[in-house]
Amino acid sequence: MNFADTEVILSILKSQGYSISNTPEEANVILLNTCSVRDNAEQRIHGRLGNLKKIKEKNPETVIGLVGCMAERLREELIEQKKMIDLVVGPDEYRRISEYIDKAFDGGKGIGVRLSRTETYDDIIPYREDGLAAWISVMRGCDKFCTFCVVPFTRGRERSRNLESITTEIKQLSKRGFKEVSLLGQNVNSYDDNGRDFADLLAAAAKVDRTIRIRFTTSHPQDLSDKLLYTIAENQNICNYIHLPVQSGSNRALELMNRSYTIEHYLDIIDKARKIIPGVSFSTDIIAGFPTETDEDHKMTLEVMMRVRYDGAYMFKYSPRDGTKAAKMKDDVPEQTKIKRLNEIIDLQQKISFEVNQELIGGEEIILIEGTSRKSDEFLAGKTDTNKVVIIPNKNGLKRGDYVSCKIIRATSATLFGDEVKLVELNGKEIAQTA
Ligand code: 5AD
Ligand code: SF4
Repeated sequence: MNFADTEVILSILKSQGYSISNTPEEANVILLNTCSVRDNAEQRIHGRLGNLKKIKEKNPETVIGLVGCMAERLREELIEQKKMIDLVVGPDEYRRISEYIDKAFDGGKGIGVRLSRTETYDDIIPYREDGLAAWISVMRGCDKFCTFCVVPFTRGRERSRNLESITTEIKQLSKRGFKEVSLLGQNVNSYDDNGRDFADLLAAAAKVDRTIRIRFTTSHPQDLSDKLLYTIAENQNICNYIHLPVQSGSNRALELMNRSYTIEHYLDIIDKARKIIPGVSFSTDIIAGFPTETDEDHKMTLEVMMRVRYDGAYMFKYSPRDGTKAAKMKDDVPEQTKIKRLNEIIDLQQKISFEVNQELIGGEEIILIEGTSRKSDEFLAGKTDTNKVVIIPNKNGLKRGDYVSCKIIRATSATLFGDEVKLVELNGKEIAQTA
């Protein structure tokens, strides 16, 4: 979401004559786009500010600003505590960002003023470098109020962008040769543009250019409809990959988290999706050590992981966020227990990912080549539509943006290795190679 927002900020500033500098040392203005979702995201920003201090000391004219959720959450407090910060602008205040920069240039402190919580930046075409994959933010905010989560406070109420403005953006990306578009929202399943739901949006997005893969994130289990599953199944270029945060395997914990589903309902969705979309892969988010979590609750989380066999997971240690309901509960799981449980969750996921990937050996996968492998020019790296990284030999003039099919010959928990590579179309149809 912050990547997408940064592109909106860049677009706004570019239209007002700003350009992007190559290094922080050369810049007149340095903006850090910040995340508040977990404490360690905020700690990283404090670290970054420490690094920028040297630049500010060398050149006190440099304007340093914080934008994004941390700016929204802390506002004046940040300016008071960190003398080096000249600018604090929240996620709904970017249209006027240059005014605040000007104020900072004049020696004042630029603090954003929120005009509305209905901003969608619909009319702003984000500034993007040429490339293969683009993010498109399709909605902003969240109404779910999970008790651990600060997002509804920093990003406000849920509102959706106009469907046509999104498909127009995809058309432009198609003309520029992009091959993958990820539709973003905190809870994309509650997308609503005057009665047009997220399945309608996905179908419309997929139709724009059938050689572009469409991805989306994040789905909330409460709102994931059958219609959405059928839409994924019916459109070959909508990726067979669903990020479906479970957070915990315990109904008691889920209730305290205000997640508004039970594990039974969650597992029903997984089973249904696997029937409707053969080969669909799942990833999830899991929190270890939510207040009052017992060993029994933790065991239930491990059990759900074993039952679903996720392809991947983002796993976190609970950290209280000011202003949320959970922050008013006692953070009573000892740090050592949180760490131990998190490590058990990570180890289990590692084992499951490894096993799931072993099962793919001998089969064929279609991948979109993203470039040379990080380790060697002799190999190319790409992704399956189920979001798995595949490494293949760099031969036959294959290039970034090509779809190829390959046979999987080896796998680790994080990577597949392929051979017998053939140039294909997105749907796997072979393309005769000349030369
Ligand atoms: N502590 C730990 N993890 C959190 N997340 C959100 N808030 C917290 C918190 N206070 C995790 C959830 C969410 C993901 C984006 O971040 O798992 O799905
Ligand atoms: Fe936060 Fe819950 Fe909304 Fe996700 S659905 S952004 S976890 S409140």
